[in-house]
Amino acid sequence: MKIDQVQSHPFADQRPGTSGLRKKVSAFQQPHYLENFVQAIFETQKDLQGGTLALGGDGRYYNREAVQIILRLAAGNGVSRVLVGQGGLLSTPAASCVIRKYAAQGGIILSASHNPGGPDKDFGIKFNVANGGPAPEKVTQDIYDRTLLMSGYRQVEAPDIDIDTIGLNMLGEMQVEVIDPIVDYAHLMREIFDFDAIHQLFNSGIFQMRFDAMHAITGPYAVEILERMLGAEPGTVINGIPKEDFGGGHPDPNLAHAQELVELTQGFDPVDFAAASDGDGDRNMILGKNFYVTPSDSLAVLAANAHLIPGYRSGIPGIARSMPTSQAADRVAEKLGIECYETPTGWKFFGNLLDAGKIAVCGEESFGTGSDHVREKDGLWAVLAWLNLLAVKQQSVSQILNDHWQQFGRNYYTRHDYEGIDSNAAEALMANLRRLVLDIKGKRLGRYRVEYGDDFSYTDPVDNSVSANQGIRIGLSGGSRIVYRLSGTGTVGATLRIYLESFEPDPEKQNQETAAVMAPLVALGRELANVEKHTGRTEPDVIT
Ligand code: G1P
Ligand code: ZN
Repeated sequence: MKIDQVQSHPFADQRPGTSGLRKKVSAFQQPHYLENFVQAIFETQKDLQGGTLALGGDGRYYNREAVQIILRLAAGNGVSRVLVGQGGLLSTPAASCVIRKYAAQGGIILSASHNPGGPDKDFGIKFNVANGGPAPEKVTQDIYDRTLLMSGYRQVEAPDIDIDTIGLNMLGEMQVEVIDPIVDYAHLMREIFDFDAIHQLFNSGIFQMRFDAMHAITGPYAVEILERMLGAEPGTVINGIPKEDFGGGHPDPNLAHAQELVELTQGFDPVDFAAASDGDGDRNMILGKNFYVTPSDSLAVLAANAHLIPGYRSGIPGIARSMPTSQAADRVAEKLGIECYETPTGWKFFGNLLDAGKIAVCGEESFGTGSDHVREKDGLWAVLAWLNLLAVKQQSVSQILNDHWQQFGRNYYTRHDYEGIDSNAAEALMANLRRLVLDIKGKRLGRYRVEYGDDFSYTDPVDNSVSANQGIRIGLSGGSRIVYRLSGTGTVGATLRIYLESFEPDPEKQNQETAAVMAPLVALGRELANVEKHTGRTEPDVIT
């Protein structure tokens, strides 16, 4: 088969962010744009030559076209085998599972996660390495550096492969194996969790659940696992058919975007348990009857109770959380006598800790929770972990949380996002904060004393690589904290995120409204950063 050498010119804007390269679909549709980026992957990741690549995406608009383009480039660059999810689909955690199970040298995942999809919405591509996790900083830097030098790419001249039929195809000398995107992942879940106990819970007749797939990738995974394997009643999974534009919605499992699901947990005859996942299946939201579990609390509860789940029966060696995630997990680690690592935002930082066996459970405040079973956060894993706890403990979600707070204290938590602000204004705001924290230690701010202030820098305990400028932290007396950082996943302008946490050890005060408890700290956070002066905004766009 003929291999074409196609000439192109470099694009200056292909630096991957927190989670791969994310742009409008129209950016990816520019001639040579996707091809250049993928060529940069093949030229820098030499192991793929003669190796195996996993390939799939969340099914959003442009997924199918991108798969065909990548297959032709893979063949042109000497990859020997590609494992493609049927229909070009693979959830992010399932892709990680496939890479690991078949010892692939890497994987390409097509997704812009929770960002909306459609012809004028977002698309994305990320490269995962052989451990199944997102490429570490050094790898993404190499890929980016290469994109700046690109003068052409290699692809085979061939018609499209049939990606809808399971089986083996050849593209030149390269094998293209179209695989079931669900089966390997479902097996892994069955190895970890007590499926019998969960099955009994669903059959008890007194337990009702809804899972909102938000018209995204987890629909078919959830129907297979929850309804077919675990016996949940048909209709447990709602919005379960994936659509290229996610039904016009915003496939982000939070209180604002999963409104339909939230309503099912309230009012007359609410369900006992509800959960949702995002566009590519790595995020999760957990709800009980009239009850919302913050992702930071979810991580802490799962860590504290991991020994009740068969896959973690012998205990966990450590926990990790992203820096802005609340310190609830730290309190659990302290009690268990294990380490809690604080990493920068983005799952890539957990990979080394997991590979080294230093941690088994990790999470982010941004609705991400996961473990050492794969190297990505995993929405359905978190849902199954909660189901396993509910089945074993025979308690409601709110009872579990109330017990937890009594034992460890409660970290009230909220995040305020200011979206689409001017990039220069955002940089100026951060620069000011960087100056402010230089001598903030010991100062009084309202009813707090400042215990520390810094621009977070992380030294990886495994490979000693340093990631600096990861966000401003201001630690306050009594375990409260304010954190500021700019998003690395946005596609328009800048997004400022302010994360606030207030610690409450007194059980009598652990059942208040979060917004009321947080109000003074929220005001302090805005004032310190001069949010209005820099951005012209008085209120955030999103509060989670
Ligand atoms: C956001 C979240 C981060 C998460 C990432 C990908 O990144 O904050 O925790 O890993 O999405 O899901 P950000 O936009 O804040 O850089
Ligand atoms: Zn996602």
